[in-house]
Amino acid sequence: MQTRTDVVVIGGGAAGLMAALEAGRRGRRVLVLEHGEQIGRKILISGGGRCNFTNTGARAENYLSANPHFAKSAMARYLPQDFIALVQKHGIAFHEKTLGQLFCDGSARQIVTMLEAECGEAGVQIQCGATVTEVRSTPAGDAGQVDARFHLTTSVGDFACESLIIASGGLSIPKMGATGFGYDVARQFGHSIIAPRPALVPLVLSADDRERWCDLSGLSAESVAQVERKAAKKDRNERIPAFREQLLITHRGLSGPVVLQASSYWREGEAVRFDLAPGQDVFAPLYAKESRRDLAALFFALREVLPARFAERWVRNMDPQDWTNAGLARLEAALHAWAFVPAGTEGFAKAEVTLGGVDTRELDARTMESRRAEGLYFIGEVVDVTGWLGGYNFQWAWASGVSAGQSA
Ligand code: FDA
Repeated sequence: MQTRTDVVVIGGGAAGLMAALEAGRRGRRVLVLEHGEQIGRKILISGGGRCNFTNTGARAENYLSANPHFAKSAMARYLPQDFIALVQKHGIAFHEKTLGQLFCDGSARQIVTMLEAECGEAGVQIQCGATVTEVRSTPAGDAGQVDARFHLTTSVGDFACESLIIASGGLSIPKMGATGFGYDVARQFGHSIIAPRPALVPLVLSADDRERWCDLSGLSAESVAQVERKAAKKDRNERIPAFREQLLITHRGLSGPVVLQASSYWREGEAVRFDLAPGQDVFAPLYAKESRRDLAALFFALREVLPARFAERWVRNMDPQDWTNAGLARLEAALHAWAFVPAGTEGFAKAEVTLGGVDTRELDARTMESRRAEGLYFIGEVVDVTGWLGGYNFQWAWASGVSAGQSA
């Protein structure tokens, strides 16, 4: 026996729940199928348990995609202010941490509870522990079947629906239920996939660099980071932004917000350059005639901008020999261009998000509907739209979810 409904959403994460409640508010019968035991698991662990649910400055420029214009339409029609209004309606207290990043004062669970309540009010049914084993479309030409364009075989029964929304996320954190399911469905319906890669992910250093730095694991410093891409390798009009945030040394390499941000732009073989003292002339005091020019003086100056053990190691590893003005200028330049060619990343196991995904050229930017199969939608992280760190990814999940929910 097949159960008929209007809309099935596969994936009860941020994007899927948002799409479901939006479609439900329009009077559509909506069923969410989530294969995990609970909905919104990534929301629960996000933002260190406080969920950085949006960024007040979110714009299409804050997203990576093979088509940088794709996100504009959805982002313009569902603004951070719209989500803030929803959060306020539910009396959830929040604060801006930094750079427009909004976090719950209490717990990320409040966001999941809010979405669940909104879904409930909109009559959305949510089924957890549901494994979808087959998705079939009604054969072309069967015009009478528009209310049942898709047929699903699942562990909780068989369903037929007019609209199918794929919101199953990307590949990051497989142990939390991430699967390639969305890509498989996309391929089944003739879509191309932009190769998925880990993004917002710690970088691993080469064995030599690890030896030189990684016993300082746990130390951090504010820095500016930017991936060095040779002009010839840049895509047309590609812009590689520089980020200014904290850098953290880890057992295997580098992490911290500034590294996660840069990692989304990094490709194998490229260097990442760090300015360890942005906007400062750290060794300027040594230029004065009467100043000491030796390792102790260098260390003393550097301690103003770096933790003591980091400063000491930097001086030792630089092994300065030339104490002339030119030699000091070279050291200063090196401090503003501390560069590494990472050996790799920590992979999907540690990546906050997945770069790449369903190619946006085959989706309608206004509705997220497939151009290959009527009634089929892709939203959230499964799509080739990836945000910076800082609430941008949830804003994309909400906005793309609303777009699909208003159309499906
Ligand atoms: P999401 O992954 O949220 O949901 C997909 C759902 O589909 C999951 O519930 C999954 O179990 C389910 N699913 C998968 N395959 C399925 C199948 N075959 N059948 C049925 N269900 C299936 N972003 C941000 O803006 N601010 C933040 O603070 C953070 N913090 C953060 C921390 C950590 C540790 C991570 C890993 C990620 C973040 N993010 C973030 C990123 C953010 O969590 C992410 O971008 C969104 O959750 C993406 O929403 P989606 O709904 O697209 O996927």
